[in-house]
Amino acid sequence: MNNFPLIVGNWKMHKTVVEAKAFLKQLRPHRCSPGVWLAVPFTALAASAHEVMGTWIHIGAQNMAEWPSGAMTGEVSVEMIQETGASFVILGHSERRRLFHEDDGIINRKVKLALENDLKVILCIGETKEERDQGRTEEVLFRQIEGGLRAIPLERVAHVVLAYEPVWAIGVDCPASCEIVEEIHAMCKNYGTNYWKTCHVLYGGSINAKNARDFLRLPNVDGLLVGKASLEVQSFIEIIDQAHESK
Ligand code: PGA
Repeated sequence: MNNFPLIVGNWKMHKTVVEAKAFLKQLRPHRCSPGVWLAVPFTALAASAHEVMGTWIHIGAQNMAEWPSGAMTGEVSVEMIQETGASFVILGHSERRRLFHEDDGIINRKVKLALENDLKVILCIGETKEERDQGRTEEVLFRQIEGGLRAIPLERVAHVVLAYEPVWAIGVDCPASCEIVEEIHAMCKNYGTNYWKTCHVLYGGSINAKNARDFLRLPNVDGLLVGKASLEVQSFIEIIDQAHESK
């Protein structure tokens, strides 16, 4: 993968098909290199992928079933995601870990399955406020990386990008400080040499058009994972522009 800095929007449970198409129609003519990825709801995957065909924009899912197929009411399989034209999936987001009780074992099965089926993976890691206060940040992050990537061949791991999202900085309009982000990214990249030739780490948590530039300037930040500020096309474009200028 060489499209860094990478800006990834995570729409979470927002936008209908009509809204997704309207957003992408506005984004499409914009200069979208190096990398712009959007993680949209399952229902909007096919229409979104169709809308961005032939552009720099990549569409992906925010979750995926841990099994290839079967009697799993309500689940969406890797094959179903791929059929829509999606090219990546976000796995291990803290909202999945916390609200849907996904542990490292479940996330590992999903990562494995996605990579085996040629979907790229954004693997989210991040400590809670309590874990940080207890001085357990490093232990938690390394466990999440190790757990998520366990027994996956290294040539496949090359298609995984890490996203450091401290749980205490998500959706609160107050990102982690640049010092913390730089320090943690350096630490993860160092640990990542066990898995990658080049380990890429995105930062996520309360990024907006006003603060994106500060993070994109940091040497160990390879891009951003943007929640709320990716919902408005104007603010998302401003962040993309800052990525352009940054490296
Ligand atoms: P936020 O969300 O930008 O709204 O803080 C980031 C994320 O959860 O990926």
